[in-house]
Amino acid sequence: MTEIVYPVWHQRLAKSLHVNNSQVQSKYYQVASVSSNGDPKNRTMVFRGFLSGTQSLLSVTDSRSEKIEQWQGDNKSRFEICWYFAGSREQFRLAGEVALISHSIDSNYGNWVLGEHTKHNLLKQQWSNLSTNAKQPFYSNSPKAPFDEDAIQSFPQDGLVNQGNDINDEFDSRSNNNSAPRNIAGHYTDISDNFCVVVFIPHAVDYLNLKSKPQQRCLYDIQDDWKERTVNP
Ligand SMILES: Cc1cc2nc3c(=O)[nH]c(=O)nc-3n(C[C@H](O)[C@H](O)[C@H](O)COP(=O)(O)O)c2cc1C
Repeated sequence: MTEIVYPVWHQRLAKSLHVNNSQVQSKYYQVASVSSNGDPKNRTMVFRGFLSGTQSLLSVTDSRSEKIEQWQGDNKSRFEICWYFAGSREQFRLAGEVALISHSIDSNYGNWVLGEHTKHNLLKQQWSNLSTNAKQPFYSNSPKAPFDEDAIQSFPQDGLVNQGNDINDEFDSRSNNNSAPRNIAGHYTDISDNFCVVVFIPHAVDYLNLKSKPQQRCLYDIQDDWKERTVNP
């Protein structure tokens, strides 16, 4: 088996994740896209690991959310992630292309995007990592639809059924539709059609370390075989 040699930026990022592991906010990054009229759009997302065997980063979202439209279509699938680790005072800016993996989105990505995964096993793996609370909004009314208080019904409480690895239960409070298929313990059993795995495929990385003396800034580009270029901050 050939050993994967990770680019220096990837090694730095893995180290930052390890060093800042105790801070829950180190799993959140800001992700930018561009709207159809050219306006910049930006939001916080949860980092859900690297796609195994690749440099790509994973997040999940609702396929009905506005960011999805911004990332669909020719020349639109661009992103920039800005990720600050407060403990080690490091910033990573990663730019590249987005791949959207969902039962409700037509896509035909090859192995170079999905690595050793198939579409279904990636969706299944990421869905099973979510707690019941985090799964629930995917079965609810559409994001940004007018709030409907009557649609709120009781749904399983954290202590009883929240057994996923999800770290982001504050991001799951939209109204509830209890018709989604669940097993006896209250778990949502089917992967919602609205569930979408976002694969961020980096093409360029800009690393800044404010802690080192002097401050350090390094640039990496896939076109340049991810060679490290040290530049002035
Ligand atoms: C701490 C935190 C984590 C979040 N994580 C996610 C996430 O992983 N996926 C997601 O779609 N939205 C997440 N959100 C909500 C987004 O920031 C955003 O409000 C929502 O996705 C709608 O964005 P859009 O209108 O650009 O599609 C999170 C918000 C916060 C505050």
